[in-house]
This record gives sequence, structure tokens and C-alpha cells, in this order.
Amino acid sequence: MLDRLDRQPPDALLALIKLHDADPRSDKIDLGVGVYRTGQGETPVFGAIKAAEQKLVNDQESKSYLGPEGDMGFVHALMPLVFGRADPTRGGRIEGMQTPGGTGAVRLALALARAAGVTRVIMGVPSWPNHAQIVGDLGLELVAFPHATADGVADLDALKAALAEAREGDCVLLHGCCHNPTGVDYSPAQWDAIVPLLATSPALPVLDLAYQGLGDGMEEDAYGVRRVIDAVPEALVAYSCDKNFGLYRDRVGALYVLASDGECLARVLSNGHALARAAWSMPPDHGAAAVRLVLEDRALTAQWQDELDQMRARIRQVRDRLGAAGRVGSVDLAPLASQNGMFAMLPLDKEQIASLREEHGIYMAGSGRINVAGLTTGNIDKFVAAIRAVAA
Ligand code: LMR
Repeated sequence: MLDRLDRQPPDALLALIKLHDADPRSDKIDLGVGVYRTGQGETPVFGAIKAAEQKLVNDQESKSYLGPEGDMGFVHALMPLVFGRADPTRGGRIEGMQTPGGTGAVRLALALARAAGVTRVIMGVPSWPNHAQIVGDLGLELVAFPHATADGVADLDALKAALAEAREGDCVLLHGCCHNPTGVDYSPAQWDAIVPLLATSPALPVLDLAYQGLGDGMEEDAYGVRRVIDAVPEALVAYSCDKNFGLYRDRVGALYVLASDGECLARVLSNGHALARAAWSMPPDHGAAAVRLVLEDRALTAQWQDELDQMRARIRQVRDRLGAAGRVGSVDLAPLASQNGMFAMLPLDKEQIASLREEHGIYMAGSGRINVAGLTTGNIDKFVAAIRAVAA
């Protein structure tokens, strides 16, 4: 039976980590998987998280089971950050549950959507590769539209056309901020234009917010999600703390449900709990408990916010430096200065990406995506010179 299975290639993004690690060159540059790096090329644990983890070690009395919803203190502590302080539950219409990272949240969102009758996922492409993998694994149909234009700005007309074709049984998956892989976000004015379309569309909005705070700020990056939530009758929001709390391998995420009323909300969540129980029983506790402790403590919250602000400022600095390089051979780096978050797409072909890796020790995704946080004042000139060499 089992020998019917063909060998699957390793996930291309995750395989890059191992390829880079195995390269002995000391001046190699890792622009692959989406982790933040300091100016020294490190991905340290946040000081606020370390302090919270210490508290956990000292004070946590039991590691006994929670339910499939995970740590509801964590889920609720996060809500004012995501939905605003004024009325984070929107009159009792929003509730959440903890998930294993943002991937678990997206997976659960789409599984819930499928259980409710969704068969097609409308999505701008390129997108995070795992989106399409989850859609395919759930047996859903992907309806793709171009996310960005050739000039590196959001293709609003393409989204409008896709929404105009939407029908019952569709959902539409949108990135809340820091679009992965393009870095091309909707501006507030564009969100304002999208929101009325979503409000009247038959498509269920599924919003993926995995990089809040790494674009323009925690409040600014939530603009789109909050505007949509205020206008539509129902929506699903997949959230990740893996980047903005630096908890990558601890897998810290949440799924929030906006329903038309409290009774419907309870029904949807009961389905979420049942799906979670069948998939992973309950999410890992440690990272979410650390986030909860940070958010319950004023001083730790301020420390975390400060650390996040420094990350965002460094990403912006790298983007400004890349943007200032302008046209480098056939690659125009100028738009990177006005894009957001960790990622950008460079118009490079497979051979050019292979020569960057083999001849220059520069590792990036096969799609042409770079993680700008992998660049530092010490290696950015080398990177720009290598782009000039391969894309003359
Ligand atoms: C990425 O896109 O590099 C990150 O979201 C990590 C991942 O899980 O793919």
C-alpha cells in the first residue's frame, strides 16, 4: 500500500535553510526563508520573550492539557492589537482560538470555510507558496488573479475583476499587510475602495495577518483588517506571532472568526474546535503563554514594542538603501523603498538565481523572492554588485 506513494520534493523554501547552512563560504548571504535578522545577521529571541519565558519557568504550575482552543488568555490578549482597543469583539461578534502558527490558522480557516460550503479560493498571485499547497491539500479550487502590476504596485483592477466574478461557495484570501512574497500592500485608500466590494460580495473574506508591525507599525498594519471587519457580515482572520514576537519554531498563531451574531459565532467555533481536535488536538502552549505574559505586563509590552520598532526601522533602512541603488543592470530596485515588510520579488530567472547562489553565495527563493532582512550594511554592496553581475 505505502509503496504507491511517490517521493515528494522537500518544501523549496525550507530546503533553502539546509542548502545555505551547508555552504562553507563565510561571506554567504541568506535571503531565503522569512526570518528577521539583525545588522549582525542574527535572529535573536526577543528580550521581552526571554523575560516572559523565565517567568513561565518560575511560575507555571502545570503543563496539563488545555482544550483544542488553546490558551484563551493569549487569544484575548492579542485581540486589541488586531482589532483595536475600542471594541475588539465588535459587540460579541468576534472570538478566536489558538493555532499552531500562522500556517495552522490559515489551514483551519480554509478547512472551516470548506465545511461551510466553500469550494473555491480567490487569491492574488504570486502568494506565499504554502497558501496554494493548503488550498490543494484541502481539495479546494484556486482562482488566481495578479496581485501586483509590473511597476510593483497593487493591481486593484485585477482584484475588482476577480470579486465581480465571485459567486456563492467562494472565499477570497487577502494579505493584511507586508505581502508575502511581493511586499506590495494595499494603501489605506485602496483598502477603502476594496471594503465596499467585499461588503457586497458573496465571497467570504479570509485575511492572513502574519507580519503585523513589520510594515508601518502595529496600528497602521491593521488598517485593512479592521476596515474589512467593520464592513462585512462574516470573515476569518488568520494571525501569526511567529515574526512579530520572533517565535518561529514555537508555532504561535490564532484564528479569529467574525460572525453575524453570537449564536452563529459559537457554532462556527465549535466546528473550529472539532477540526483542531482531529488535526492536532491542541496547539503547543509555550510560545503563546510567553506572548500572553508579555501582553499582560505593561513593562514587558513596552519592551516588546521597542524591540519590534527597531526591527521595523532596520528593515526600512535596508529598503531605503536598496531603493537608492535604483536600476542595477536589468533589475529596478527603486520600488523596494516604497514596499513593505520583509519580502520583495526581483525579476530574475532560474539561471540568474542559480548563479547568485553558486558564484556569489547568495541564497534566495526560486521565485525571485528575497528576504530584505537578510541584508546588512556589511553585505548590501556585495549583493548589489552580484545582481549587476548576473543581470547585466
Ligand atoms: C516564509 O514565507 O519564508 C515564511 O512564512 C516561512 C514559511 O513558513 O514559509
